[in-house]
Amino acid sequence: MSDDRQGPQRTWGGRFQEATDAFVARLNASVGFDQRLAREDIQGSRAHAAMLGAQGILSAEDVAAVDAGLAQVQGEIDAGQFTWSEALEDVHMNVEHRLTTLVGEAGKRLHTARSRNDQVATDLRLWLRRRIDADVLPALDRLQRAIVAVAERDGEAILPGYTHLQRAQPVLLGHHLLAWFEMLDRDRGRLVDARARLNESPLGAAALAGTPFPLDRAMTAKSLGFSRPMANSLDAVADRDFAVEFCAAAALCMVHLSRMAEELILWASQEFGFVELGDAFATGSSIMPQKKNPDIPELVRGKTGRVVGDLVALLTTLKGLPLAYNKDLQEDKEALFDATDTLEDCLEAFARLLPATTFRRDRMRAACEAGFVTATDVADYLARAGVPFREAHHVVGRLVGWCLAEGRTLQSLSLAEWQALHPAFGPDIQAAVTVEASVAARTSEGGTAPTRVAAALAEAKRRLDRA
Ligand code: ARG
Repeated sequence: MSDDRQGPQRTWGGRFQEATDAFVARLNASVGFDQRLAREDIQGSRAHAAMLGAQGILSAEDVAAVDAGLAQVQGEIDAGQFTWSEALEDVHMNVEHRLTTLVGEAGKRLHTARSRNDQVATDLRLWLRRRIDADVLPALDRLQRAIVAVAERDGEAILPGYTHLQRAQPVLLGHHLLAWFEMLDRDRGRLVDARARLNESPLGAAALAGTPFPLDRAMTAKSLGFSRPMANSLDAVADRDFAVEFCAAAALCMVHLSRMAEELILWASQEFGFVELGDAFATGSSIMPQKKNPDIPELVRGKTGRVVGDLVALLTTLKGLPLAYNKDLQEDKEALFDATDTLEDCLEAFARLLPATTFRRDRMRAACEAGFVTATDVADYLARAGVPFREAHHVVGRLVGWCLAEGRTLQSLSLAEWQALHPAFGPDIQAAVTVEASVAARTSEGGTAPTRVAAALAEAKRRLDRA
């Protein structure tokens, strides 16, 4: 990028004799990625200028000129007419330079009682708050609503629940889907918590120690929608814990999405056949004509690694930094941007994919017929009849072994066969070993009985409406 500002006339160039090495200038510049903070940078500068005016630090004319100039800069950026310059390093100096070109002297006064250190910390908090409010939480909400809609449509279907990926006990599909809902609901809580803690204003901390100018930090905090000014100027410019908290919440949410993705991938396999993904959400193979691949869930699962990496990158960057600002902190942005974008995209992808997924009730139900998924119900039956559970467990284990050897199912046993096995079996055992009876019996709080699942679904909808 050619610019005349390579030499001592650079913004901070007063004490320098030589121009910056061209390679170093490129490495040092962050404008390639931090221009994404432009909107928040301008928002923060306008609040700062208004406060300087209210405190008599800047004249009313200067404030008016700065405010109009910054509005124009925003307009140029929105229209794609702004020329970003690498020689101006970062978003802050690009905006300020353009402002000064537009309004002259007044633009040069804007940086009074401010540093790029409190400026960038402010910008980043404002940016993350906007993305959480405008993008991430709404996408999460759309996905939770999609889950609820599928649970309403297909929730009564019965499929095997698994432990160790072995068929274990039958559950309602609605119960399984509402487990996803709960995972995501806690993710929402973590994001809301992170948002509340990030919402404090670093502005006015200046470079690190505060400033001799009579600032009104409460005024800028309020006009930027922060709940209060940060209490300590060193902390305000030095910490990025808010970004870590967000990335941690994002990484965990991605891990949840990845587990959902893994289930969809398994369920879409011919081995399970529990779901058929919509054509719009799957792709074919360039060589195998019969293939329909679950690329979207696979990508979500794969992108989880990136977001976990973003979290680890950020933590590693912070570890070992002395107070206060260090240039290492410039490395916070790409990780945070990537985690935010990736999480939003993956939430959106699933919110669109789920309604277009066909749940194969027949295949799910058929999978319950094999695998002795109601064996626990037989043991429970004996336990209710007074047989100690451990003994009951043993009896049923032997029965399953026998059925496997004979090619029989629990549902096929005659009453005489049951009673030959144990005298405690009565005529009601045959009804008790059906898949429907097994599910219906699990009425404990949080269990899979249809009455419980219906209540949980209603509660999930209430929670969405409250949020
Ligand atoms: N581009 C810088 C960053 O992202 C802005 C702050 C620079 N501050 C400084 N003292 N060099 O961290």
